[in-house]
Amino acid sequence: MNAKSARPGKAGKPATPADDGTAETVAEVSAVQEDIVRLKLTDRARGRLVKNEVVYIRPARTPHERLKAEVLRVLGDYADAQVYESTSGVGLGDPVEQTGLLLAVRLGPGMLGQVYDGLQNPLEALAKDHGTFLPRGVAAPGLDTRARWSFAPTVRIGDRVRAGDTLGTTPEGPVLHKVMVPFDLDEEFEVTWIRDGSVTIEEPVARIKTASGAERTLTMAQDWPVREPLPRRLLARGWSERAYPDTPMVTTQRMIDTFFPIAQGGAACLPGPFGAGKTVLLNLVARHADVDVVVLVACGERAGEVVETITEFPHLKDPKTGGSLMDRTVIVCNTSSMPVAAREASIYTGIAIGEYYRQMGLRVLIIADSTSRWAQAMRETSGRLEEIPGEEAFPAYLDSAIKGVYERAGVIRTNDGSTGALTILGSVSPAGGNFEEPVTQSTLAAVKCFLGLSYDRAYKRFYPAIDPLMSWSRYLRQLEGWAADHLGPEWTDRVEEMMALLRRGDEIARMEQVTGEEGISVEDFTLSQAATFVDMVYLQQDAFDDIDASAPLDRQKRLFERVHAIATRAYGFADKEEVRSHFTRLTGLFKNYNYAPPGSPEAERLLREIDELDAAAPSIAVEAAAE
Ligand SMILES: Nc1ncnc2c1ncn2[C@@H]1O[C@H](COP(=O)(O)OP(=O)(O)OP(=O)(O)O)[C@@H](O)[C@H]1O
Ligand SMILES: [Mg+2]
Repeated sequence: MNAKSARPGKAGKPATPADDGTAETVAEVSAVQEDIVRLKLTDRARGRLVKNEVVYIRPARTPHERLKAEVLRVLGDYADAQVYESTSGVGLGDPVEQTGLLLAVRLGPGMLGQVYDGLQNPLEALAKDHGTFLPRGVAAPGLDTRARWSFAPTVRIGDRVRAGDTLGTTPEGPVLHKVMVPFDLDEEFEVTWIRDGSVTIEEPVARIKTASGAERTLTMAQDWPVREPLPRRLLARGWSERAYPDTPMVTTQRMIDTFFPIAQGGAACLPGPFGAGKTVLLNLVARHADVDVVVLVACGERAGEVVETITEFPHLKDPKTGGSLMDRTVIVCNTSSMPVAAREASIYTGIAIGEYYRQMGLRVLIIADSTSRWAQAMRETSGRLEEIPGEEAFPAYLDSAIKGVYERAGVIRTNDGSTGALTILGSVSPAGGNFEEPVTQSTLAAVKCFLGLSYDRAYKRFYPAIDPLMSWSRYLRQLEGWAADHLGPEWTDRVEEMMALLRRGDEIARMEQVTGEEGISVEDFTLSQAATFVDMVYLQQDAFDDIDASAPLDRQKRLFERVHAIATRAYGFADKEEVRSHFTRLTGLFKNYNYAPPGSPEAERLLREIDELDAAAPSIAVEAAAE
């Protein structure tokens, strides 16, 4: 792909000086430490190079290579930069070129279905050109420059437009892609020319003019610096506005939707020990969540794990359209064998892509698995820069970096009045499952929903292994109004009632461990059996059963109402054996019910059996009423 950088205007990356022929050497390499290089600035560059600017190193020994790097800090005559490639062979005195650009993604149609690395290089295109083992310094356009899109304008000559306004649309897989005025423009413009029909992302689709007469030609693609929230200027000018997250993002996982819901536009985390089921659960959510676009940021520990994700996804069927799930998915992936700097950048690349689709009024879900790997990349870089370390050698800015990521979630009322949402769900993999460590703690402070996986539950194969006693979601109350309208006026109170039952059940089980079964009353034993029943038939859900794997909200509601009624009844059992046998039988029937196709004769038969069994259980409420 090196040849490409010499071909002016053909790069899919943000234009670099090499691309437009104005490359300027501004520094030379004065020290190399793994992927951090120290740059000695020339007189001309002093005061001009800025933090987060992209520079290219031209190794003297391999002059055809251009190694992409990002400036981390500028210190007078020197600057430190992280290199997104292996730095082997980089020598002292090697020239460094300035770009004047921040690390950016290229946004436009054609991202859906792509598998990118952390710098938006499409891996398939690279592999096609270079084989599986990529040579250093290769890059490919983030968007296919040859693909043709059918552009349908939505504005006319003479119309006035501002940043973020829609100029036209083009179908992209299952979504209608809005082509918008670049987000970094401040003025109001008049449309002076617009076209329609089949275009590539490099061909002009519109021309706009400011009041002062300056004209600009627009294509369907634009660049955005990944570290800056995409709607920032639009929000500052009041062209788009933030809205309150007040609808749930339904995952079809009962434990999440009913007990620990996530709002559309919300931020949630999934910490769990190694092997507790984070990836299995996240992939389930990616598949079934009611969103339009999924961006999967895979920062895997092992290369194999990431390979599994990218080989599995294209074969998964989209439960909504019946097509491939990949058609509405973007994967950004990294493994620990890729340079740390690229891993650190990948999460921002994923978010910027997600924000772009949100700006079209779509519901986007970003899944980051695992953010611990990302935080470790930050720690390594910080260590090499010899910054003052915070807790466990993480940089002191870990907290603000994590907040900065989750804060980019949210609901936006876009320029044209449509509503887009960006939901972020990140997994955390603390060593030894210790949630006291800095990444988990900082994450907990940044999110409003905490789904904590427990080793105990995973060990017992209680999947999903989310611990109901430890987890919480502030969205439960925040979505109370929505739940009252759609699930029933008492929904949220009932959910809390069930949570109280689970806690009480746990207390009784602990007591029982000390006193033995004979040490607790029949009433308490009944409560603990009822709590276990709720866990077995409602909280647990079989990821590998076609029916049970995904429970839409209406099915959750029907099941919840039955389970709630059964679990909160006042029973008058004579002895513990009767209690045990009753709940064991009920549990078996409900489990089969969860596996039965909804509305099938089998499901109806099971419900009848459940009702009969329930009706036959002794009740004290009736006796009390009779007195
Ligand atoms: N819902 C589930 N149903 C059945 N088995 C499961 C479920 N979730 C996880 N498992 C089992 O646990 C194994 C590990 O799960 P997974 O890879 O999701 O864990 P993880 O938390 O992502 O681990 P790591 O920390 O290594 O990334 C799976 O291969 C599977 O055997
Ligand atoms: Mg995993």
